[in-house]
Amino acid sequence: MSSRFVIEGGNPLKGEVHISGAKNSSLAIITAAALAEDGVSVLENVPHDTDVATMCLILRRLGVNLFFDKQGRLHIDGRGLNQHQAPYDLVRKMRASFYTAGVLLTRLGRAEVPLPGGCAIGSRPVDYHIRGFSQMGADVTIEHGFMKASCRKLQGAKVYINRSSVGTTVNLMLAASLADGTTTLENAAKEPEVVDLAIFLNGMGAKIRGAGTDVIRIEGVESLHGIEYSVISDRIEAGTYMLAAAITGGEVTVKNLVLEHLRSPMIKLEEAGIVIEKGVNEVTVSAPNGLRAIDVETSPYPGFPTDLQQPLVAALCLADGTSVIRETIFDRFRYVDELRRMGADVKVERETAIIRGVKQLTGAPVEITDLRAGAALTIAALAAEGRTEIYGIDVIDRGYEHLEEKISALGGCIMREHTTEVTDLFSHIQEVKA
Ligand code: EPZ
Repeated sequence: MSSRFVIEGGNPLKGEVHISGAKNSSLAIITAAALAEDGVSVLENVPHDTDVATMCLILRRLGVNLFFDKQGRLHIDGRGLNQHQAPYDLVRKMRASFYTAGVLLTRLGRAEVPLPGGCAIGSRPVDYHIRGFSQMGADVTIEHGFMKASCRKLQGAKVYINRSSVGTTVNLMLAASLADGTTTLENAAKEPEVVDLAIFLNGMGAKIRGAGTDVIRIEGVESLHGIEYSVISDRIEAGTYMLAAAITGGEVTVKNLVLEHLRSPMIKLEEAGIVIEKGVNEVTVSAPNGLRAIDVETSPYPGFPTDLQQPLVAALCLADGTSVIRETIFDRFRYVDELRRMGADVKVERETAIIRGVKQLTGAPVEITDLRAGAALTIAALAAEGRTEIYGIDVIDRGYEHLEEKISALGGCIMREHTTEVTDLFSHIQEVKA
C-alpha cells in the first residue's frame, strides 16, 4: 500500500526537536556487532527507521539473533552467524547491506552478497570494496549479479582507496578487524560515522588507530566481544531541521546534536543569513531577515555534506538572489523537477544547480525519488502557500525517524495517509519471550 504526506504550508516552525541516532552510524555498527563471537551487544539511540529494520532482518537471515527491547535498545548476538549468502530480496532495498560482505568474509571465510544496484542518486559501484578484499587475500568473482568471495583467513594489507568513500572505509575496517596482521587504509573517509564505528569496534576488542584522519590502521585480533554502546546523533537529520526552521521563518531549538559534526553546514547557513545560537549540544535556529543566496560545493567530511545538498537547495529557492550549488559526490538533482512544480526557479547543468530565489513556493502534488529529496520536498512544502501531496514517502521512512510527529510538534501541518506503518516492520523485531 502506498503512503503520502499531505502538508498545508505557511506555519513557521517553533519549539524544540530532539535529534535521533545517526542512521549511517547505526547501519555500520549493527553490522559490526555481528563480528562478536562472544557476548551480546546492546545498542542505544538506534533510530527506528526502515533502513535499520532492513539491516536487522538481513542479519537475522544470516543467523544473527537480535531484537529491540521495550526501551528501544537493540540486542545483537553474533554467535549464531552461519549463513554466507546475503538474501537478495532484502539486500536490494539498501546499499549499506553490502557491509555484510566484510563481516561474512572475516567471520566465515566466504561471502556471497548481491551487488547493490544503482539508486536514485546515480550508479553506486563497490569496486573499491572489492579491490580491498582482493588485496587482503580474498578470491573474488562477480557472478549473476553477486560478489562471491572466499578466503581461509584475510591478511592485513596496505590499501589505497581511490577517492574518499565512507562505505569502502567501513567495509574494510570490518573485514580487517579479525584479519591476520595489520591493514592500513590510505585516503580513508573521515566522516563522524567512521569514527563512531572505530570507537565501537575498539570497545569490542579491536585495535584501530587513526579513525577521523585519512590513514586508519587496523591490527587484526583473534576475536571480538559484545559491548553496550550508544550511537552518535544524526548530523544530517539535525541539518534538515535547521533548514526547515529557516525556510518557514520560525525559530527551532535542535537538541541532542554534536555541534562539531555540523561545522561546515553551520558556516554556510550563517552565510545565508540564518541565525544560529549555539549551546553545548543544541542550537537555536531562525532566519529573522529571510535567506540570502550563497554558493556551495559538496565534499567529503569535514566539507559540506552531500546529504544536506537537497534540503539546502529547497531552502535557497526562497532566498534573495541567485545561488550556485555544485554536487561533487553523486548525481542527485532529479528532485529539482519536483521543486519546479512548486514554483521554484532552478536550472541544473551537469553537476551544478543554479537557484534563482522566488518570493513564494506554491503547493503541488509531487513524487520523491530518494531519501534526501524527500526531506527537501517536505521542507519546501512546509514553506509553500497551500496544499502539497508528497507521494513515495516510504523512502523518507528510511532515514527520518518519526518525521511527521516531530514536524507536527513544531506546529507544521502534516498528515500521513494510506500508511504502511514503520511500526509494522518493527513488530517483527521485538523481543521474543522464551
Ligand atoms: C555513504 O554512502 C552514506 N550512506 C551516504 O548517505 C552518503 O551520501 C555518502 O556516504 C557520502 O557521504 C551510508 O553511510 C549508509 P561513498 P556510500 O562510498 O558509502 C564512489 C544517505 O542519504 N565510489 O562515500 O555509498 C561513489 O559512487 C546516504 O544517508 C566508487 O566509485 O558513499 C561516490 O561517488 C546517501 N566505488 C563516492 O565514491 C566504490 O567502491 C563516495 O561514495 C565506492 C564508492
